[in-house]
Amino acid sequence: MVIAVDGPAASGKGTIARALAAHFGLLHMDTGLLYRAVALSLFRFGGDAASEFEAARAVHEIDKIDPSDEELRSEIVGGMASRISAYPAVRAALLDKQRSFAGQAGGAVLDGRDIGTVIAPDATIKLFVTASAEVRARRRMAELEARGMPAHFDEVLADIRARDERDSGRAAAPLEQAVDALLLDTSEMDVAAAVTAAIGLCEERAGTPD
Ligand code: DC
Repeated sequence: MVIAVDGPAASGKGTIARALAAHFGLLHMDTGLLYRAVALSLFRFGGDAASEFEAARAVHEIDKIDPSDEELRSEIVGGMASRISAYPAVRAALLDKQRSFAGQAGGAVLDGRDIGTVIAPDATIKLFVTASAEVRARRRMAELEARGMPAHFDEVLADIRARDERDSGRAAAPLEQAVDALLLDTSEMDVAAAVTAAIGLCEERAGTPD
């Protein structure tokens, strides 16, 4: 079974994807971390994020980044990841890694922006997780505060909106709901309710023959 979980920044898709992986006994890949690792490589090892060629070259450096590195989850790296993810050459260089993870025996859960549309178009189950920009900004604030990085609501909201526009407006594999994806709006849900709803949708869909 392959589960594709897509959605905008701070929609809760990562938390949901991890919970689904634990529930169904599947391995999980956070594909946003790959783009974040490319961005951080450019910062750390040098390279111009304005150059598609240099950004694509940085894909070969991402194994040098520790996945538990706190900086990977920072807003600056997230914003830069959103920028370099618009380059077709970067997306192409990251494709095989994601496709082979999705194709592994035993199945997988992947979360990102283009899993249901590009990476795993034949996924067993596709979820598109969303929430209003205001709710997502509040969640992002809470996350940043918990990490000792307090921020201003207006700035976080503006950032979320800019990221939505960039991720949805780019030509290469934009963020969009796959036609066969199930929509889960978590605006009015806490984490537990969102996870329960996601598991329910997957069980329903898995039990429904095509
Ligand atoms: O999910 P995230 O915030 O960690 O992702 C960071 C950026 O990476 C996001 O703004 C767009 C890009 N991304 C992408 O283009 N495709 C994916 N499958 C995952 C992330």
